[in-house]
This record gives sequence, C-alpha cells and structure tokens, in this order.
Amino acid sequence: MHVQQLCRLLTAPPQCIAVAGVEVRPFGGSRDISGWIDLMCDAFVAADPPMRPWTTADFEKHFLSHADRSPDEIFLACDGEYRLIGSVALRVRSGRDRKHIPAIHWLAVRPEWRRRGVARLLVAHLERVCWQRGMREIHLETHTGWHEAARFYEAIGYLPTHQVTERSSMRTAPD
Ligand SMILES: CC(C)(COP(=O)(O)OP(=O)(O)OC[C@H]1O[C@@H](n2cnc3c(N)ncnc32)[C@H](O)[C@@H]1OP(=O)(O)O)[C@@H](O)C(=O)NCCC(=O)NCCS
Repeated sequence: MHVQQLCRLLTAPPQCIAVAGVEVRPFGGSRDISGWIDLMCDAFVAADPPMRPWTTADFEKHFLSHADRSPDEIFLACDGEYRLIGSVALRVRSGRDRKHIPAIHWLAVRPEWRRRGVARLLVAHLERVCWQRGMREIHLETHTGWHEAARFYEAIGYLPTHQVTERSSMRTAPD
C-alpha cells in the first residue's frame, strides 16, 4: 500500500469560493451519523484501494474515543434540500513540542456532485478554521492509487513532504 503525505502552508486567510446551491455547515450530532455514513459509502464505492463501508460502531470508535478527533470537527456540504453531498474532517494532533498539527481527514464528495468545486470549498472552510486558530500548516495523507484525490490536492496547492512510503497496514478502513 503506497501512502503519500502532503502539506500546504497558509500564507494568507483562505478564501471560500461559493458553489451555487451548496451550503457548508457543522456536523449536527447524532442526527447526521447515518447520512454521513451513507455519504462515505457512496463517495468511496469505486475507491481502489477499496474502503470498507463505515458502520455506526466505526463512527463512534473513530470520532468519539480519541482525544484528537471529534464530530465537532466534521464539516458538511449540503444541497438545497439539506442532503449531505460532501464532507471533510479536521484532526488536530499535539506534536512533541506541544505544537498543534492540523490534518485533513475523510474528504469525500458524492460522485454526481464532483468537479463543481465542492471539495475545494470544504477544504477552504477547514483551512479557514485552522487559520482562525493560528495554525498555518495543514497536513494530510492519501493513497497514491486514489488518483482523483491526488489530482485534487495538487490542484489546490498541497505538496509532498516525504517520499511515497509503503505500509503494510492500510488506512483504507474506518479504524
Ligand atoms: C477527491 C474529491 C474529494 C474531489 O472532489 P471534487 O468536489 O470533485 O473536487 P473539486 O470540484 O473541488 O475540484 C477542484 C479541482 O481539483 C482538480 N480535480 C478534482 N478532481 C479531479 C479529477 N478527477 N481529475 C483531475 N483533476 C481533478 C481540478 O483541478 C478541479 O478544478 P476544475 O474542476 O476547475 O478543473 C472527490 O473526487 C472524491 O470524493 N473522491 C473519492 C474519495 C477520495 O478519494 N477522497 C480523498 C481521500 S484522501
């Protein structure tokens, strides 16, 4: 499994470019869990390497039992009828020197909504949250086989920080 780590330095307040008919809002608690799981299954259905479908138990384990992850740090894109069409999660780890290291997690847009700027809007929203908290360096990891993601991150200015690494354990499952 080949993993690529990427990073972008924020040098100015990130600008969110609106997408017609799309609104970004915070995660709304337990009422959003099933919709979020459905969105993730839909968005990753064709992923190669594949993603095991999320369950409610996965969600609780992933977002509710780690100090550096929280549903409050999930941002949702909704269409005019409040259906979830995209999502991104922020994870902030504490580094060795107590520096906070923000990272993009679980970025996903439903296939029928792609190439309209929804992911760009979600990432800009997350970056703006980081900017407001004084964080200037955003990190992420992706799989080299997820070509759409690679092209997306390149297009919005994320650069590789390390050589591609091979990992035996795949973070392609929600655990
Ligand atoms: C990667 C993903 C989130 C991109 O979402 P999106 O809403 O389509 O992205 P955007 O419309 O904001 O794209 C912004 C720019 O990124 C680039 N881009 C995005 N998808 C691309 C693709 N499939 N091929 C080439 N360039 C692409 C383009 O430059 C695009 O601008 P343009 O449409 O004006 O040319 C989406 O394809 C997805 O959900 N993929 C499956 C899940 C996944 O891989 N998630 C990332 C895990 S790390």
